[in-house]
Amino acid sequence: MKTRITELFGIEHPIIQGGMHFVGFAELAAAVSNAGGLGIITGLTQQTPDNLAKEIARCREMTDKPFGVNLTFLPSFAAPPYPEYIDAIIDGGIKAVETAGRNPQEHLPRLKEAGVKIIHKCTSVRHSLKAQAIGCDAVSVDGFECGGHPGEDDIPNMILLPRAADELEIPFVASGGMADARSLVASLAMGADGMNMGTRFIATKEAPVHDNVKRAIVAASELDTRLIMRGLRNTERVLNNSAVERVGDIERAKGADIQIEDIVDLVAGVYPKVMLEGEMDAGAWSCGMVAGLIDDIPTCKELIDRIMGEADAIVRRRLEGMLA
Ligand SMILES: Cc1cc2nc3c(=O)[nH]c(=O)nc-3n(C[C@H](O)[C@H](O)[C@H](O)COP(=O)(O)O)c2cc1C
Repeated sequence: MKTRITELFGIEHPIIQGGMHFVGFAELAAAVSNAGGLGIITGLTQQTPDNLAKEIARCREMTDKPFGVNLTFLPSFAAPPYPEYIDAIIDGGIKAVETAGRNPQEHLPRLKEAGVKIIHKCTSVRHSLKAQAIGCDAVSVDGFECGGHPGEDDIPNMILLPRAADELEIPFVASGGMADARSLVASLAMGADGMNMGTRFIATKEAPVHDNVKRAIVAASELDTRLIMRGLRNTERVLNNSAVERVGDIERAKGADIQIEDIVDLVAGVYPKVMLEGEMDAGAWSCGMVAGLIDDIPTCKELIDRIMGEADAIVRRRLEGMLA
């Protein structure tokens, strides 16, 4: 399939694996890229820029296909050394960067000078237009369904994607709630040039996370995610567990007076315990409603081949057949 996104990133299929904290290691990025999509290493999961440089080198040993790096500009207690992370990206020969969170404008000139294509993740049309205005090459439009941070507007993709298509000139991918060929074809119908998946890629053989995490996603239904940190305007969609229920209790008790310190032990620094050690109740971890559509643990190649094969059948047989 050829779209503006496959052309922009030099990939075979219009499928991107979104950056995921303590999931987006070289093994997953390489597996997605080898399967013809765009795999992405999560920059800040690497504790130092030097570690990111090593992770990029490790990924290069596993694939000769293009892969990218995610740089997340989220509110954090100590700002990471972003310019040094960007050095590692440029020196590592990376040509695709997924930015997310705060406006990446101050970092764009260096990246663009090095020939890096930027796809910025946005949860609203106005942020997408801003990304376009500051020179991003593409946008990942992340609907309310998404795992991670859906923003504060609560607009699901059935509305957000056609709204983005009406306003944007640069290409965009649909993100949030994407799982299969139906997601891809629907996204293309609504004006996107491809799709970005997070949660779906965690439940794959190559995702280097504990089996408990994959099993939890397969077991979960679309009813099992919760929104936390609304009162802090840092909303996150997470899989429900005992820690998330405690966060909810504290949020209800504190109301508008809630401070990050009230819940920090339940929401910060928990990813290594969950993702690597499989302690499923160690804290709150991002997960999309799309868990309800995930019931197997294929390889990335099996997943992507299945999506592309079934997308072809939906377009050629189901849709075309309806016209005839
Ligand atoms: C476990 C997990 C961790 C994530 N970590 C990050 C992150 O560090 N930076 C980021 O930009 N997005 C992060 N995301 C969001 C994904 O990149 C992607 O936008 C989102 O998962 C799409 O929604 P979906 O899960 O419904 O596919 C994370 C998502 C998950 C599920």
